[in-house]
Amino acid sequence: MPVKGLFRALRSHQAPAMTREDFTRLPRHVALIMDGNGRWAKKHKLGVAMGHRRGVETLRNVIRHTDDLGIEALTVYAFSTENWKRSPEEVGALMQLILDFFASEIDELDEKGVRITILGDKSAMPIRQQEVLVEAETRTGDNQGLRLNIALNYGGRAELTRAAQLLAQKVQSGEMAPEDITEEALEKCLYTAGQPDVDLMIRTSGEMRLSNFLLWQCAYAEFLFPTVLWPDFSIADYDAALTAFGGRERRFGKRL
Ligand code: FPP
Repeated sequence: MPVKGLFRALRSHQAPAMTREDFTRLPRHVALIMDGNGRWAKKHKLGVAMGHRRGVETLRNVIRHTDDLGIEALTVYAFSTENWKRSPEEVGALMQLILDFFASEIDELDEKGVRITILGDKSAMPIRQQEVLVEAETRTGDNQGLRLNIALNYGGRAELTRAAQLLAQKVQSGEMAPEDITEEALEKCLYTAGQPDVDLMIRTSGEMRLSNFLLWQCAYAEFLFPTVLWPDFSIADYDAALTAFGGRERRFGKRL
C-alpha cells in the first residue's frame, strides 16, 4: 500500500465513524455544496475530471453515513445551471460521472430504501442522463428511507420562478384564488415538496457563499464552512460538522 493510502487507513482507524447515539441532536435535513474538486486536482497535479471522480467517492461515503445515522434528508449540489459554462471536457466528465454513479450505486441505494429525487430541470440534460435519472426516481419512488436529493441543472431562483409559474397557472385555471397563495402553497411547488427545511448547510473548501442553492429551504439553516477540499472531506470531518450543529443554539427568530 502506498504510504499515503496507509496514512489514510490509519487515520480512519483512529476515528471510527460516530453512531446516532453519539449525538445529542442531529439535523433532519443536511445540504452539501461539494466545493474544491478543481483545487484538489490541481494540488495533486491531476486533471479536473479526476478531482470530480474523487469527489464522487467522497459523496458515496457521505451518503452511506447519512443513511446509517438515520438522517431524514440529504441534498447535494452536483451541477448548477452555471456549470454549463465550464469547458466541454469538464461538462462531459461530469455528465459521464452521473451515469457511472447511478450504474454503480442504484442497487445498493434501492436496497437500503433510499428515495432519490432530482432537483432541477432535467429536460436540458443529455437524453441518456435524463433516462437514467427518471429511472432512478421511478424505481425508488415508493422507498421510505433516506430522501436523497441530487441537484442537477439546478438554481434556487429558477426553482422559485417555476413555483410562481405553477401557482399562477392554478390561479388562471380557477383552481385557486390569489389569496390562497400562502407559504405552504408555494412550498408544495418546490422540488423538495413535503420535505423538512434544511437544518444544516455545509460548504467545503472555505468558500462562504450559497451560490443560488436551496434559497427557500435554507431560511433557518445553520451554516458551516470547513476549509477541507471536498475530495478530502472525511467521515470524521462530517461527524465534526454534525457535532458542531448539535452545539448551536437555534432560535428561529424567538427570544429564548
Ligand atoms: C465544485 O468543485 C463541484 C462541482 C461543480 C461538481 C460536484 C460534483 C460531484 C462531486 C460529482 C457529481 C455528482 C454525482 C451525483 C455524479 P469545483 O470544481 O468548483 O472546485 P474548485 O472551486 O476547486 O474549482
